[in-house]
Amino acid sequence: MTTTATEHLLRADGVTVRFGGLTALDDVGLQVAPGSVVGLIGPNGAGKTTLFNVLSGVLRPTAGTITWKGAPPPGRRTHHLARAGIARTFQGLNLFPMMTVLDNVVAGADRLATGGPFSLITGLGRHHRDERELRARALAALERFGVAEHAHRLPGTLPYGLQKQVALARACVSEPELLLLDEPASGLSGEQISALADQIRGFSQDMAVVLVEHHMDLVMQVCDHIVVLNFGRVISTGTPQEVQADPQVTAAYLGTPADTPGDVNGAAR
Ligand SMILES: Nc1ncnc2c1ncn2[C@@H]1O[C@H](COP(=O)(O)OP(=O)(O)OP(=O)(O)O)[C@@H](O)[C@H]1O
Ligand SMILES: [Mg+2]
Repeated sequence: MTTTATEHLLRADGVTVRFGGLTALDDVGLQVAPGSVVGLIGPNGAGKTTLFNVLSGVLRPTAGTITWKGAPPPGRRTHHLARAGIARTFQGLNLFPMMTVLDNVVAGADRLATGGPFSLITGLGRHHRDERELRARALAALERFGVAEHAHRLPGTLPYGLQKQVALARACVSEPELLLLDEPASGLSGEQISALADQIRGFSQDMAVVLVEHHMDLVMQVCDHIVVLNFGRVISTGTPQEVQADPQVTAAYLGTPADTPGDVNGAAR
């Protein structure tokens, strides 16, 4: 697929992140076209979540630029990003444990409210009409993800697979143009991962997706394009077939020299 710079929703160029003496990302570039599913893979500690934090604007890179629809990102706070059309899930669940499932998703719908994030907790500055509208949207999102019947429970009382669906509902309720998924398949059964593959394909009808994932079968099944990180550097990019055939990738996962033959499938975790 050939796209020009202006067709990209999101671009990262020359992104470097240092934490003290540790270089977590080193001159990383990435482009996400509308409606595409981009896989971001690499061994533990490669820098994938750090790149997500940069892409979602919550971490300012030491060097490099992020471009969202041809302009700098709109702000550093997640609600700024949500209003601009970027949503994410977190490695692990990151649901608010003392808020109901519904209120967790209302938190994700805040992009559409007038009161800002403070109003989530206090209710101050939010009109009753907004409140009703947000709850209706949140309930519709819970319906879409098959968890509406649990709207009034605390997330921790649900099975893990359902909690993952609540986290997806919270990310998607703001109808983002770009969805960043950080290890959505972790902790799921094979059957749940197959269902997730269908969901991710469905998402890409409406939005672009960047998928960080260790489950290689899922990545190879749903991604149009893959970027492979190792020790903070991009070591390979291409289609799933190209990346699977790249000896550098096998070597990174197996910790063996690049000329050792192997299969990247299932090599991680
Ligand atoms: N806030 C931080 N302060 C210091 N070092 C950090 C910080 N966040 C991440 N790192 C380090 O940066 C490197 C990249 O971490 P990151 O979490 O991005 O990896 P990852 O590819 O997401 O790994 P995993 O697959 O285990 O989730 C690691 O060496 C990690 O220890
Ligand atoms: Mg991570």
